[in-house]
Amino acid sequence: MRVVKDDIFAVGAIDWDRRLFDELIPLPDGTTYNSYVVKGSEKTVLLDTVEPVHANVLINNLIKAGVEKIDYIVAHHGEQDHSGSIVDMLLLYPAAKVVTNAKCKGLLIDHLGIDEDYFITIEDGEELSLGNKTLKFLFTPWVHWPETFCTFLKEDKILFSCDFFGAHLATSNVFVENNGDVYEAAKRYYAEIMQPFRKIIRNNLAIVEKLDCEMIAPSHGPVYDEPKFIIDAYKDWASEDVQNEVVLAYVSMHDSTRKMAEYLCDALIERGVKVMQFDLTTVDSGKLAISLVDAATVLIGTPTVLVGAHPAAANAAFLANAMRPKTKFVSVFGSFGWASKAVEQLTGMMSNIKAEVLEPVMVKGYPGDEDFARLDALAETIAQKHNEAGL
Ligand code: FEO
Repeated sequence: MRVVKDDIFAVGAIDWDRRLFDELIPLPDGTTYNSYVVKGSEKTVLLDTVEPVHANVLINNLIKAGVEKIDYIVAHHGEQDHSGSIVDMLLLYPAAKVVTNAKCKGLLIDHLGIDEDYFITIEDGEELSLGNKTLKFLFTPWVHWPETFCTFLKEDKILFSCDFFGAHLATSNVFVENNGDVYEAAKRYYAEIMQPFRKIIRNNLAIVEKLDCEMIAPSHGPVYDEPKFIIDAYKDWASEDVQNEVVLAYVSMHDSTRKMAEYLCDALIERGVKVMQFDLTTVDSGKLAISLVDAATVLIGTPTVLVGAHPAAANAAFLANAMRPKTKFVSVFGSFGWASKAVEQLTGMMSNIKAEVLEPVMVKGYPGDEDFARLDALAETIAQKHNEAGL
């Protein structure tokens, strides 16, 4: 049995082998679906459930924790990795009520077919007594869906934050043991799903900071028993500050674009700019997402396929656009045989990124001296822009 504190148990599932989330997000370290039980002197609450395929693990853990009755099931979020086993729980504990906000209630009815009679609908700031313990519900929208909220267990000063502060990291440890491992996993998680909402995340962080939490218990990854670590990391990631860094993501068919990428990389390094270079045919998209959190500039390199960008470059531009990073400058470089619309395509696909588009460098065939001079000019412009921005 995994104990968080007296009468508070972690009863979720560890998914050691999952390697893809949403059929999109790589999970190099697996994940966990955290579910917590809090036994009060009068009432017992289950906070979130697990991915439905792991419902049997949740049930076994509840039995091991001696949970004979559940009065409330708090559903912080409608996504099924946390809500998907609520129906199983209601079959097992038919007297339980599902406690959630109006938006999440709608999602649970639509996605899981839960009957309206099971719900208790809460408002922001409302409290629910378990006897000797009190739950306070705090609405924290867009971490990462519109309905998301957190629960603060007042007497124990534990914030149950669901996806907010989560990390895809399969571990048997209840608490964070290695800050470095968790930092990387939590930043990857932030980059992939939280990054587009950083403005509202800053508002949510202000709510959390007022709480004087002793622990933050998210729905993925270990519990933070020193929560300042992850709050400070989120404040950094969700700020509008960028670093003197360039993401240089490229794909090459006949080495022209590769040669340009390598030349550009060296030219930037010589000018004191940090480069994170990715071959888009083999890239871990999570690593690419992490690099977008801080970089001042994003460069996409592409050869020309059927007069347009290579699909791997288009995919990178599409994902970067969806993540809405705080990038200040973007550009495109690459090559073509006879004609290309790749620049117009790729810059058009990144319209959500409020960045200045720097002069692109497209080359007919293999790059020559004049082309390398244009790449030097691009590198010089980037270094100057970063310098002018105080980076
Ligand atoms: Fe972990 Fe948004 O679900």
